[in-house]
Amino acid sequence: MRILVTGGCGFIGSALVLHLVRDLGHEVATLDALTYAANPISLQPLADDPRHRLVEADICDADAVQAAFADVRPQAVMHLAAESHVDRSITGPGAFIRTNVVGTQVLLDAARRHYAGLAGTDRETFRFLHVSTDEVYGSLPPDAFFTE
Ligand SMILES: NC(=O)c1ccc[n+]([C@@H]2O[C@H](COP(=O)([O-])OP(=O)(O)OC[C@H]3O[C@@H](n4cnc5c(N)ncnc54)[C@H](O)[C@@H]3O)[C@@H](O)[C@H]2O)c1
Repeated sequence: MRILVTGGCGFIGSALVLHLVRDLGHEVATLDALTYAANPISLQPLADDPRHRLVEADICDADAVQAAFADVRPQAVMHLAAESHVDRSITGPGAFIRTNVVGTQVLLDAARRHYAGLAGTDRETFRFLHVSTDEVYGSLPPDAFFTE
């Protein structure tokens, strides 16, 4: 599959991208703004791998996100780009609203437009997976699973 992974230079995102490409053989485009939280060296093992590329862009930048969808034509999106260090939201909540809320909305909008142009199996199988946190979804009871 061709998968667009946002936040793929982060802690969890980079492990996911390595797994998708090296273990599962998918084609991945990593879209990441390379903020203070990024560690692009984690993706160094893919430097010469034609199945991976890095798109340096901000998910709040609608034109850049739109261009990435047009270029990559993803069959799935895995959205991990976030302001994830929750303690920082006490002193600087703006960045959290911007990336986690506005950026997610920009991404969903682009995905919806992309989805509208799909047909047949591509349309049936397209998925948008939003990876988030218990601060958003709430705590999970010990013996239960989430359903969106
Ligand atoms: N790390 C954990 O233990 C943990 C636990 C539960 C949930 N999560 C969730 O998983 C997701 C990923 O977490 P993580 O620990 O890998 O985060 P991280 O902070 O390590 O990485 C976030 C990545 O997103 C990128 N990014 C930030 N703002 C961006 C923007 N505006 N546009 C494009 N890229 C941007 C950063 O450059 C970075 O590479 C988050 O939603 C987080 O809440 C993480």
